[in-house]
Amino acid sequence: MRIAVAGGTGLVGRLLVEELSAGGHDPVVLARSVGVDVTTGAGLDAALDGAEAVVDVSNVTTTRRGPAERFFATGTRHLIEAGRRAGVGHHVVLSIVGVDRVDQGYYAAKRAQERAVLDGGVPATVLRATQFHEFAGQLLERVPGPVAVVPRMRVQPIAAREVAAALAALVEDTPAGMAPELAGPEVHEFVDLVRKVLAARGSRRPVLPVRLPGRPGRLAAEGALLPTGPGPRGRETFDEWLAALAPAGGGR
Ligand SMILES: NC(=O)c1ccc[n+]([C@@H]2O[C@H](COP(=O)([O-])OP(=O)(O)OC[C@H]3O[C@@H](n4cnc5c(N)ncnc54)[C@H](OP(=O)(O)O)[C@@H]3O)[C@@H](O)[C@H]2O)c1
Repeated sequence: MRIAVAGGTGLVGRLLVEELSAGGHDPVVLARSVGVDVTTGAGLDAALDGAEAVVDVSNVTTTRRGPAERFFATGTRHLIEAGRRAGVGHHVVLSIVGVDRVDQGYYAAKRAQERAVLDGGVPATVLRATQFHEFAGQLLERVPGPVAVVPRMRVQPIAAREVAAALAALVEDTPAGMAPELAGPEVHEFVDLVRKVLAARGSRRPVLPVRLPGRPGRLAAEGALLPTGPGPRGRETFDEWLAALAPAGGGR
């Protein structure tokens, strides 16, 4: 199948492109770095020519509601409209477990994205996954300054590679609407994962755990980002994943 991957150069997107290629598919990357912008629509029609399915793993790095909503609303609308023009038969989007419970800006934008996809007129599948094992490292790169300010959250993280494998299986299957939630094998305090990543890097950067403001912060700290029902579970634990990283912290 020719499958367009919006965000195919990103953390999970790169792994999904590898997974699709290994499965004999023909993945097409949609990203600004290859001349396709989902927020303006530039390059979309040409890139979707002949595509049978779209998997959207594009992302914007903000926690603010306005910019997050603008990115996910506009990008999703453009992807669905271009998908309809191209005759795409399946639109798959990756969302996050708990976006319906934690009313923080970014999560609200993901919730709106889910609704737009399910109501968009292209047969769709929404996969909610928990935080990736890689998320602790992503946060460390994105939070500036000498001290790592880390939100207090209970998480059940999963290797991004296992999320990519799940997305590849879903896009090959018939559209499912809301798919069962995907999570990792163990529950952790997120701040502990950040400390482990810093230790593995030999970094002495201090960590300052903070509860995010208001009710969303309390709920995230109490476990509202954990799955509530049965669903597929990743096998690789955080410690196994970290131990398998190259010594310099790269390689995966
Ligand atoms: N990180 C987690 O723990 C986690 C957990 C569950 C679900 N998710 C979801 O997984 C998805 C992917 O997250 P990620 O961390 O893998 O993303 P990421 O590493 O930040 O990658 C973002 C991707 O989006 C592309 N992109 C950004 N703006 C674009 C635009 N205007 N047009 C086209 N492409 C654009 C980027 O490429 P260019 O910069 O070249 O445009 C890149 O390929 C997100 O929707 C997120 O909500 C993440």
